[in-house]
This record gives sequence, structure tokens and C-alpha cells, in this order.
Amino acid sequence: MRTTIQQVRDFKAKGEKFAVLTAYDYATARIVDRAGIPVILVGDSLGMVVLGYESTIPVTMDEMIHHTKAVVRGTDKAMVVADMPFMTYHITVEETLRNAARFIQEAGAQAVKLEGGVTVADKVRKLVDCGIPVMGHIGLTPQSVNQLSGYKVQGRNLQAAKKLLADARALESAGAFAVVLETMPTELSAYISSKITIPTIGIGAGAGCDGQVQVISDLLGLFTDFVPKHAGQYARLADLIADAVTAYAADVKNGSFPTLHQSFTMEEAVIEDLKREDESP
Ligand code: KIV
Repeated sequence: MRTTIQQVRDFKAKGEKFAVLTAYDYATARIVDRAGIPVILVGDSLGMVVLGYESTIPVTMDEMIHHTKAVVRGTDKAMVVADMPFMTYHITVEETLRNAARFIQEAGAQAVKLEGGVTVADKVRKLVDCGIPVMGHIGLTPQSVNQLSGYKVQGRNLQAAKKLLADARALESAGAFAVVLETMPTELSAYISSKITIPTIGIGAGAGCDGQVQVISDLLGLFTDFVPKHAGQYARLADLIADAVTAYAADVKNGSFPTLHQSFTMEEAVIEDLKREDESP
């Protein structure tokens, strides 16, 4: 049985902090699921850390569906939340419902995530009314990087802080089961967390949130183009991979790979027959 939205709500009710992690492929999702992470996010961060785009803006529905399917196949305990790409939930309610339904019906996700607060609350309500659980995402919303003039800390002045509080409340009223708070002052995220009943999941938002989310490629030290300040680096896989690849290439060059262990044999008589037949005029 996968994690349910009620269990996520209960984490907050019980004061139990919880970890959320992104995953984008079958093998990684399997490891993360078996490690007991209750909620796995197929974030549109995949555009940057897996597909090499400059931002999350170019990520398409089809790319997200493809990766979400792989993550769903790799998991049986975690709730899988799929990120709705840029402009797939803004134009009309109908289009929003159709796109979200693809994640649930076609890809097998249990919930969707979308960016924005007050301005997307009507869409959130419709999705929830149709039985699609929604995770909100406010603060630094990367799909709006151009409007925000860069990846900056949000909510530092009174007006901006009030707006984020209103966004969080609008998502709660619209029926979102949780909300990501990204890149905002610790004091503000702690205050928002104390003022809404749904769990807050922080990234770059300090320790006062109910849960935390990290991009797995940052956590494992796999993505090295840049390391965000909010990233917790628990391993340095890029270095390990580079060492392994270099050692492999050297072994191939000097003939020490493959060994008998990685090789297959055949009966000597068969190869001798082959040679005799092949070489006889
Ligand atoms: O796309 C993503 O990975 C996200 C998390 C950073 C919350 O939205």
C-alpha cells in the first residue's frame, strides 16, 4: 500500500517530520522507495538535472509522463507526485484537468504538484473535486524564473511575506494536501507552517517546515553544473562515477578488462571444428 494523502496530513498532526525526495528513473526510484521515503516527487527539475535544459521551462508533458511512468514502475510504497510542467495548468480548467488526468491515469502517479497560490487556487479546487490530490508550491517557483528576475529568496519584505501567507492559505482552502515552500526566510516558512493545517515541505526554507524535499541529484552530488545553497550533499557520486569510468577505460586499454569472470566459454571441440571448417580450402 502506498503512502496516502491522509498519512501525509497525519505527519503534521503528529508533529512527525518527513523527507520527500525527487526521482526521475526506475532504478533510482526503487532505491529511494526501499529506503522508506514516503513521498517521491518526479520534479520538473528533471529538465535541468537529467535532460540538461537551462531551466524547467522547456519541460514537456510527454517528458514528465515518460519519467513518471518509470518512477511508478520502480515503487510500491511511496506516493508518487508528478510535477505539472510550465503552462500546462494555466490556460483553461479543462486543459488543466486533462493534463493532470494523464499523470494519474496514464502514468500512474497518485498526485500532482503545481506552482502558484491565489492565482491557481481555482484550478486546484477543480482538480481536488475530480479526485486528483494536489501539492502546492509557493515561494521561489522556478517556472516563473523570468518573472521573478532570477532564483532569489522570496518573501523578505512585508508585502511579499503577506502575499506568500495568502498563497498558502488559498491552497489550503482549495483543498491542496500539502505545499512546498521554496527559498524563503526560515522565520516566514515557520510562521506559514504554524498558520495552516496542511503540511509544509521546505526546500531552502529552513527547519520550521513540517517536511523537507531535496533534488536527488543534489543530494547525491551527481549534478555538478552548480550546487544550490539549499542542497544537502550526502554523497559525491559524480566523483565516484568519474573514478570508476577512468579506471574502466584504463583497464580496457591495458587489457585487464574483461577478465574470465565477465566472459563466456564454449566447448573446445566446437571452436576447433569451426576453425578447421573455416580454414579448409
Ligand atoms: O522540480 C522539483 O524538483 C521541485 C522541487 C525542488 C520541490 O519542484
